[in-house]
Amino acid sequence: MRSLRGKTAVITGAASGIGRALAQRLSRERMRLVLADVDRRPLRELAASLPGAIAVPTDVSRMRDVEALAAKAYARFGRVHLLCNNAGIAEYGAVWEVPLRRWQRVLAVNLWGAVHGCLAFVPRMIAQADAAHVVNTASMAGLVTPPLAGAYSVSKHAVVALSEALVQDLALRRARVGVSVLCPGWVATGLARSGRGAADRMMRSLMSRGLPPEVVADRTVRAVRAGEFYVLTHPEMAPAVRRRADEILSGRAPGAGMLKLPRSRAASR
Ligand SMILES: NC(=O)c1ccc[n+]([C@@H]2O[C@H](COP(=O)([O-])OP(=O)(O)OC[C@H]3O[C@@H](n4cnc5c(N)ncnc54)[C@H](O)[C@@H]3O)[C@@H](O)[C@H]2O)c1
Repeated sequence: MRSLRGKTAVITGAASGIGRALAQRLSRERMRLVLADVDRRPLRELAASLPGAIAVPTDVSRMRDVEALAAKAYARFGRVHLLCNNAGIAEYGAVWEVPLRRWQRVLAVNLWGAVHGCLAFVPRMIAQADAAHVVNTASMAGLVTPPLAGAYSVSKHAVVALSEALVQDLALRRARVGVSVLCPGWVATGLARSGRGAADRMMRSLMSRGLPPEVVADRTVRAVRAGEFYVLTHPEMAPAVRRRADEILSGRAPGAGMLKLPRSRAASR
């Protein structure tokens, strides 16, 4: 989708981080914006700061909310050209140490949120006269599997699979709806803000040194314009994807992947 001006974008998780940067970037492209998030106050403040943007408080883990979001966007603007299924939460810790309720929540937001977005918007996008595009925010943790992030990785691998299935199903139907799956490495956002465990502290530290979200927003806009499917933001992490493919084909278990685990003094001598 080369031209964005005057078209309509819906962004979930718009109140903070990558979603917020995307909203600001797309506003500069003169898009009309429908901004969705569970965090109402920053959502309203952001919408008020961007001309023509509307805020729709939404919990993406609830199909009812996402259906209402789609209904509002179509009632207001008639069509939606760009859907960014971006809302997400982090969850770190060893697979067996993440409590069941946290496993359920991370899948409900990260995976079901994106599924709900597809169910509510894609049929409307197929039916509308204009071409459209869906961007699902996965992660490098959807292409490789780092340790101590099992619940999060499961959700993001599923978002990659969802996107890969979606793009092929749309092609079979000859629908004028494109798809991109955004797979960032570390981005300096508040994603890991709340956890208290050692893994959370390590992720926070890695994220604080990550890419500015504005750079990820620029990269996303370029990808939408160029119709790129896999959208990587950290070229230095790309070899990890090849390593995973080699591990799969040779039967080896994954190594420490992209995480640089602290080495003991003895090991580093
Ligand atoms: N920060 C990183 O290093 C990184 C790396 C790869 C992928 N991602 C992904 O990028 C996306 C955006 O995250 P971010 O880094 O900007 O974090 P962030 O915490 O700054 O922003 C996420 C936003 O999603 C919202 N949200 C959470 N649960 C929601 C729900 N149920 N319904 C609606 N909104 C909800 C939050 O309120 C927040 O505003 C996520 O999907 C995340 O997994 C982030």
